[in-house]
Amino acid sequence: MAKPKTTFTCQSCGNRTPKWMGRCGACNEWGTIVEEVAVSATAAGGRAAFGALQAGRPQRLHEVDGGAVARASTGILELDRVLGGGLVPGSLVLVGGDPGIGKSTLLLQASDRLARPKGRSVLYVTGEESPQQTRMRFDRVGAKSEGLWLVAETCLERIDAFVRELKPSVLVVDSVQTLYTEAVESAPGSVTQLREVTARLMQLAKGHNIATFLVGHVTKDGAIAGPRVLEHMVDTVLYFEGQRGHAFRLLRAVKNRFGSTNEIGAFEMRGDGLAEVHNPSALFLAERATNTAGSVVTASFEGTRPLLVEVQALVAPTRYGTARRTAIGADAGRVALLLAVLEKKAGLDLAGADVYVNIAGGLRMDEPAADLALVASLASSHVDRTIDAHTVLFGEVGLGGEVRAVVAAEARIAEARQLGFTRVFLPAGNRDATANPPPGLELIPVATTSELLDKLL
Ligand code: TYD
Ligand code: MG
Repeated sequence: MAKPKTTFTCQSCGNRTPKWMGRCGACNEWGTIVEEVAVSATAAGGRAAFGALQAGRPQRLHEVDGGAVARASTGILELDRVLGGGLVPGSLVLVGGDPGIGKSTLLLQASDRLARPKGRSVLYVTGEESPQQTRMRFDRVGAKSEGLWLVAETCLERIDAFVRELKPSVLVVDSVQTLYTEAVESAPGSVTQLREVTARLMQLAKGHNIATFLVGHVTKDGAIAGPRVLEHMVDTVLYFEGQRGHAFRLLRAVKNRFGSTNEIGAFEMRGDGLAEVHNPSALFLAERATNTAGSVVTASFEGTRPLLVEVQALVAPTRYGTARRTAIGADAGRVALLLAVLEKKAGLDLAGADVYVNIAGGLRMDEPAADLALVASLASSHVDRTIDAHTVLFGEVGLGGEVRAVVAAEARIAEARQLGFTRVFLPAGNRDATANPPPGLELIPVATTSELLDKLL
């Protein structure tokens, strides 16, 4: 028998190299390259990714049957929305996220609802927790469906047999990193195993029309292959995000063959599982400290939804050594840039000041449209003057101190109005929006940061 060929694969990014290296040339991570035994083309499921495609002769595209997909509701509107309107039969959905963020909870709650209609069943495969632990979670989230089946198993061949026997309409694999197939000798969690297991689950999903959820932990150290190496193999990739110590969670579609990738779903982790948050703005502003210098509200835009969020800044004279600059939830580089603009273009003396920026509620905000609010909160804290609590600001700030137009201004304005705000500062360049102010709302267009500070403070 020929000696099996070995390859070297980065456990972090999946890059393959012909020889071992201390550092991956693709992602620059150290110590992530491991040796793996290559498997034969058939074992590796060479055609697996195309298993769903029917072989056939070329057809005129407009004659191909488009067929409307019948989607199943997960009973969780926020999840349905992110999936593009419900779960497509036979689709493979990867749900990634940090450990402990709530992936198992979300999928157990979805499984419970998907298994409720008569004649439907869901198979939940757990490779991480005991059946007892999962049962406790089942009770905790108030699940009650009879069509939900559970098995604690990590061998793919056995799972395959259970699926053929039970014929569920939905399969949940929690997590894909714990599974292994006997066809490959690498350790569970390695890139080769992960790819092979996913290719086979894909064949199973497409072949039997079973919608399949794969849970994938995101690992920072690269010790175990992350879900990123699977992204191109699956139909839909969702990421579940949030910050430790905060109950708020966002589900984001980063890839979707059956819908838009702009969608987000909002949840709150409670004592009895995840609750849907249909009005995230109200949640974010619930604990706002009004009448505090440095606190302002911005209208950000996540996916297709506007979201009002509190931006906080604290600017204080530096007491020891060099000035500290800390940003939580906002990009530190962006904050540094805005500080420079404030110094140079608006004449604020910030050189000897410690600066802390925080986005309340544990949200991450990377949108440039938050610039105007960041500038306002920094300036407000610096001069120690509060900004009227009924004010919302949005707009991008350029290096010249100019305020640039942003997308979806109307939606942001509408959200501000709906939550009882009375004043909106926005880019003068958003002319369509400023031309038609809704009743009860004062729109104040600004073209530069100095103009903003003149009108605001
Ligand atoms: P889990 O779904 O196990 O996360 P993941 O599968 O992404 O690793 O959720 C773990 C956390 O959620 C854990 O710290 C406990 C918390 N939790 C609640 O707060 N309420 C609940 O009802 C449940 C089930 C979990
Ligand atoms: Mg889990």
